Amino acid sequence: MSRSLALFIAGLVAMSAIALVAASLLYGFDSRISIPAGPDQGVDIALGLLFWIVVTLVTSALPVKVPGGVMIAVAIAPCLAAMNLGGPAAAGWVALIGSTELRELRGEIPWYGSLSNHAGIVLPAVVGGVVLKALVPDPANPFVDLLGTALAAAVYSALNLFIASFIAALRARTPIRDVLRTGDRGVTFSFVALAPLAWLMTQTYERVGWWTTALYALPLYSIRLANERLVEMREMFTQTIGALAEAVDKRDPFTARHSLRVKEIASDIGRVMRLNSGEMEALEWGGLLHDVGKIGVPDYVLLKPDRLTREERQLMNSHPVLGAQIIAPVTKLAPELPIIRHHHEWYNGSGYPDRLLGLEIPKLARVLHVADAFEAMTAARPYRMKPLTTEQALGELRKFAGIQFDPEIVDAFVKTGWVDGVPDPGRAIEPRPVPMLATAAGLMLQATALADDGVELPAAPIPFAVVPEVGPRAIDAD
Ligand SMILES: [Fe+2]
Repeated sequence: MSRSLALFIAGLVAMSAIALVAASLLYGFDSRISIPAGPDQGVDIALGLLFWIVVTLVTSALPVKVPGGVMIAVAIAPCLAAMNLGGPAAAGWVALIGSTELRELRGEIPWYGSLSNHAGIVLPAVVGGVVLKALVPDPANPFVDLLGTALAAAVYSALNLFIASFIAALRARTPIRDVLRTGDRGVTFSFVALAPLAWLMTQTYERVGWWTTALYALPLYSIRLANERLVEMREMFTQTIGALAEAVDKRDPFTARHSLRVKEIASDIGRVMRLNSGEMEALEWGGLLHDVGKIGVPDYVLLKPDRLTREERQLMNSHPVLGAQIIAPVTKLAPELPIIRHHHEWYNGSGYPDRLLGLEIPKLARVLHVADAFEAMTAARPYRMKPLTTEQALGELRKFAGIQFDPEIVDAFVKTGWVDGVPDPGRAIEPRPVPMLATAAGLMLQATALADDGVELPAAPIPFAVVPEVGPRAIDAD
């Protein structure tokens, strides 16, 4: 366990303990939670508390694991009900004891894991209870009570998710943003949606009897099952994409794991550029699938060790369009389409398939192009058995920034761990004009069209852009 993780858990446990004791002393337990059994109200309250602890124990026995390592159980519903009926202290105690899992009893979780799990639920439960008490001091109006419960549930869920994600991030040594991003928001929101159910539980508990709580077992189990299926479906989708990417890489022994590495490099560039979660996800899947069109390139072209002929080169260069066609029917992968189609466009417009120019090229495709080129240069290929060193590859990226690559993306790449400690030549100081080929071609087409219409035009000069000095050859990118 890292020092920062130990410190965080220690702080969390201390805060939760203080919150629980303070809530017990300040608020006590509301008599609405009691189950009438005899003349002593204290016993009735204890009985009610015990009842909700048992219900919470049962519902937290099988939590759903969300990608990123965060565990969520439907136990939030009885916890919220206890919060509504008994106040912040009741919520805290029910959360503390009721959140015990089977894995803990079997000794599968280290003691500090148990401690942080419980503390991570107690603190949000007490804070949620205090919020509810402040919003609804008197639950006489059922509508206000319902609204207050929903808000308290939002506070509870958000705080619980933040604490759990923070611990998962510290444990995996990744930024908390990444854990929150990989977590499924659909699942998180569905737990907030348990608030109305929890409120209904309190109403029937109070008005009809404690036994009505059993009626909620089936809906709660269904929600849990739905969440589990959602997480499973998502995992299956990710694994299927991974398998598809591997199938492409496996065809060519020289590009084994190419897609996986491109995905990692592209994600690191994305992190430096502070891309949003949707863009990061598109980069990851786009990175894995960018060369999926190579499935349609014949072996004699794909595996040819010598230089490709003009026709073979055309076949090879059709892979971005083929890839986009293969992926197009998968609606969930719509954000990845532009990445796959345009990952071989050049910044100066001389790439393929659409000869897009500069910022016309989708941003994520420009990111992927840099990642793809760096991976290709630093890995062995049939036509170049000895890969370039990281320093040489970085030199090439810098040399071709503004021609093949977006200079801003190359700048972002330089800040990633892939070139840590490698001497960076920096952006070229001596600029020189380079023909913007796509623009020139566009102007020529326009001129031809106008000439066809009988309009006489003077010959248009080829436009130039000022870019750094270039070497004699272009960079490999698969
Ligand atoms: Fe490619």
